[in-house]
Amino acid sequence: MNAIEIKKELGLRAAQLIQSGMIVGLGTGSTAECFIHSLLERVQKEKLTIQAVASSERSAELARAGGVSVLDLNEASHVDITVDGADEIDPEKRLIKGAGGALLREKILASSSRSMLVIADETKLVPHLGKTKLPLEILPYGAAATRRHIEALGHKASWRLSPFSPLRPTFHLPQQSENLFLTDNNNLILDLTFSHPLQNPEELHHELTQIPGVLETGFFFHLAKTILIGRLNGKVDQIS
Ligand code: 5RP
Repeated sequence: MNAIEIKKELGLRAAQLIQSGMIVGLGTGSTAECFIHSLLERVQKEKLTIQAVASSERSAELARAGGVSVLDLNEASHVDITVDGADEIDPEKRLIKGAGGALLREKILASSSRSMLVIADETKLVPHLGKTKLPLEILPYGAAATRRHIEALGHKASWRLSPFSPLRPTFHLPQQSENLFLTDNNNLILDLTFSHPLQNPEELHHELTQIPGVLETGFFFHLAKTILIGRLNGKVDQIS
């Protein structure tokens, strides 16, 4: 199976777990989108009646276009299940998320849900977190100072850039000529990279969230209840 087929299979398996009447949390990213497409297919073909809460404007738009009503999280009495992807998964079901820049909303949504189902292909499994990058959502006010604070702790950091989200004129970062990526909350993403695997991610999360201006880290601890892992050989393994 190729990467796209694996994501489609994961999306299909996850969508089969959704029942009529549920309020469903929609994750963000290419695997979460496969889930949304499969879910919309069930809504249309099987007349499944659900409501959704989305972790990004993009996922909300997809759901609305497919005829699903999308609630503001503030209006939802509860969220039965949130289905989302991941960038890294360790043996203790700790995750790194946020390559799509939606980590803050994703974490609020997952934390507000009765359960979180993670769907990811086997390339996302790591013995220790910190293989790729750890995204941090940063408030624009004082962002240059927040970054200096983080770098003074010895971390290697870079602003996430995007040609699609032009820097708003309401704030300015020195020596930053390219377009900065802006989240759906109009915040910045600072990506940290590490030279060694992380031995104590909880301690690092605590250290980073003590810094004013750091709104959230991409670490997800104790949130993933069940994980479906899509294997290259076509099998899907469940970690509960
Ligand atoms: C977005 C995320 C995504 O869920 C994560 O990056 C995985 O994405 P993909 O399924 O495209 O590999 O955290 O903020």
